[in-house]
Amino acid sequence: MQDLIYWFSGTGNSRAVASYVATELGDAELVPMVKAAGGEAAAAATVGFAFPVYYFGLPLFVLDFLNRVEIPEGAFVYTVATMGRSPGVAHREAAATLRQRGIELSSGWSVKMPGNYTPLYGAPSPRFQEHCFAAARTKAKQIADAVRARHYGRIEDSFLPMRMVSPMFRCVGKKRIPEADRAFKVSEHCTSCGVCEQVCPVQNLKLEEGQPTWQGQCQECMACLQWCPVEAIEVGWITKGRTRYRHPAFTAEDFMLHPAPAH
Ligand SMILES: Cc1cc2nc3c(=O)[nH]c(=O)nc-3n(C[C@H](O)[C@H](O)[C@H](O)COP(=O)(O)O)c2cc1C
Repeated sequence: MQDLIYWFSGTGNSRAVASYVATELGDAELVPMVKAAGGEAAAAATVGFAFPVYYFGLPLFVLDFLNRVEIPEGAFVYTVATMGRSPGVAHREAAATLRQRGIELSSGWSVKMPGNYTPLYGAPSPRFQEHCFAAARTKAKQIADAVRARHYGRIEDSFLPMRMVSPMFRCVGKKRIPEADRAFKVSEHCTSCGVCEQVCPVQNLKLEEGQPTWQGQCQECMACLQWCPVEAIEVGWITKGRTRYRHPAFTAEDFMLHPAPAH
C-alpha cells in the first residue's frame, strides 16, 4: 500500500474530505483513527491525517493519536484540517507534536466546510453547503497533486494576528473539552434508541435506564447531538431550535463503532 489517510470526524466533513483526497490519489487506504491500532502505515510512502479544527487546534483524540502512531522512515506526512472559518494553529500544533517524536510534518492544508458547532450557530443553508462541498473537491485534487509531487513546506494555518491569539483559545479549549459534556442534556423527545451511544467515537456516552449519560471524557465532536434522529440532545438549551448539521453523504450507521451486521 502506497498511500494511507487516517481520519477523525464527528459529523462527516473530515471523513468526506479524506475520501475525496483518497480518490484523487487513486484509492489511498482510509483508516478511522478511532479504530486504528497505530501501526497500519508501516509500509506507506505517504501518510495523511484528516480531522476537524477544534478551538483553533487539534481535537484531543488526534493529539493523542499523533503521539502514538507509527510513521515509516522517509514517508511524506501531511495534515488536512477541515474547519468552518479559521484553522488557527492546527497544523503547527500537529507539527510540534510530531517533531517531539523526531517526525517532520511535510505539509498541512485547510479545507473550509460547513461549521458544526451548534452551540454558536445552526447548520448553514443547503446552497452554502453545496458550495463548500464543490470547493472542497477542487481543493482535494490540489492536495492530492501536491502529495504526489511531494510538495513540502505548505502550512495553511490562520494568518497573523489570528495565529497569535489562537494559543490562548487552545489553552481554554483543551482544559474544558473533556468536561464539556456537563452541559449536554436530553429532552423529553428521547426515544432511548441508543444512536448517541453508538456514534460517540470515544464511548463517552452510556444509556442508563434508557437515558443518555455522559461520562466526562468528551471530545466535543457533536456526534451525539447531530446524529440524534429526534434532535433530543441539546447543549444547555442554547441549541434548542437550531438546525442540526451532518454531512449529507453519511448516515448515523456509518459512524457507529459497532454497526449492526447486514442481513
Ligand atoms: C468543539 C468545536 C470547536 C470548533 N472550533 C472551530 C475553530 O476553532 N475554527 C473553525 O473554523 N471551526 C471550528 N469548528 C467547526 C469544525 O471544525 C468544522 O465544522 C469541521 O469541518 C467539522 O468536521 P467533522 O464533520 O469532520 O467533525 C469547531 C467545531 C466544534 C465541534
